[in-house]
Amino acid sequence: MKRATRFLKACRREPVDATPVWLMRQAGRYMPPYRELRQKHSLLDLVKQPELAAQVTLQPVEAFEVDAAIIFADILTLPESMGLDLKFTQGEGPAFSNPVRNAQDVERLQVRPPEESLGFTLEAIRLTRKQLDGKVPLIGFSGAPFTLACYMIEGHASRDFPVTRQFLREQPRAWSALAEKLAQAVGAYLAAQVAAGAQAVQLFDTWAGILSESEYRDWAMPFSARALAAVSAPAVPVIHFAIGAHLLPLVKQAGGTVMGVDHHVELADAWRILGDDVAVQGNLDPTLLLGPADPMKREAARILDSVRGRCGHVFNLGHGVIKETPVENVALLVHLVHEHSKA
Ligand code: CP3
Repeated sequence: MKRATRFLKACRREPVDATPVWLMRQAGRYMPPYRELRQKHSLLDLVKQPELAAQVTLQPVEAFEVDAAIIFADILTLPESMGLDLKFTQGEGPAFSNPVRNAQDVERLQVRPPEESLGFTLEAIRLTRKQLDGKVPLIGFSGAPFTLACYMIEGHASRDFPVTRQFLREQPRAWSALAEKLAQAVGAYLAAQVAAGAQAVQLFDTWAGILSESEYRDWAMPFSARALAAVSAPAVPVIHFAIGAHLLPLVKQAGGTVMGVDHHVELADAWRILGDDVAVQGNLDPTLLLGPADPMKREAARILDSVRGRCGHVFNLGHGVIKETPVENVALLVHLVHEHSKA
């Protein structure tokens, strides 16, 4: 019973019996049942067939005592819905064959109603809500305009997105037009996920941290703010996860009621900087889950102790689960978070 309510309560900074925990990328290749499904279906099949997406979403909820589910999808289906050609290649990750390189490319991108262009994920949300039957809440998500633009311009994953950074300096007007379209599309998509039954939403700004504070303020923040403003229902927690501790005050200013904190910063320090009027989510280093178990347990306990007594902590990793993670360690971590925070 407690498992049904802890996560949303903590998001609203209400008292809980134990700290809720879920993990970014909790469904995925580290889980044997996921790998089994992937032998028969491509990643995009799993995302685009609502029955399969629902099935994958439930895998970690059934395997572990996690306090929330996150809909199985990918941030890159949104750029695909705007007209980019998305492929996932073995070992190399995602790629767009027709990346955005100038104003004409931006012009061609279409912002279509999410029910029409991303209906598979909305249907997966409706189906998953039915199958979860109140067991745990369901989180929806989108990439943030900046992070999406990084993939759309670069055309593939990168460590420092040089083409993107040159684009925004050389073609600031095309950048604004692109980010504006993305803000609209992301806002509409998040609102549609809430309408379909998502009980919280998370904005992933994975690459924000490659920007300086002033660059983030000018080129990313206004567009994230516009997207988040579309999810105005106060009852729905909005988790804003941007990697880059130097940006925390600006990320908060952009919006959200729960701030995601990566593992490069002390959670208690981050919370002090952010202030008491937001909840926080984070922030165990995902590589600790690779083992051995003792350092993982010590660090998780230390994070919990550092914010003990404060309402509004959702335990998570500082970034997604790594595919080499042993499942036993995930089970152990989830158990430890509950037991240690109850004590
Ligand atoms: O958390 C969950 O369980 C939901 C699933 C989820 C996926 N992608 C499925 C997926 C989520 C939340 C995402 C978000 C996502 N996708 C982000 C933002 C969060 C982050 O991790 O920084 C980003 C940058 C992407 C883009 C993306 N998708 C990349 C770079 C890759 C390749 C990475 C890799 O490890 O190969 C993907 C593929 C992807 N999306 C996988 C999963 C489970 C693995 C692919 C597979 O099964 O072959």
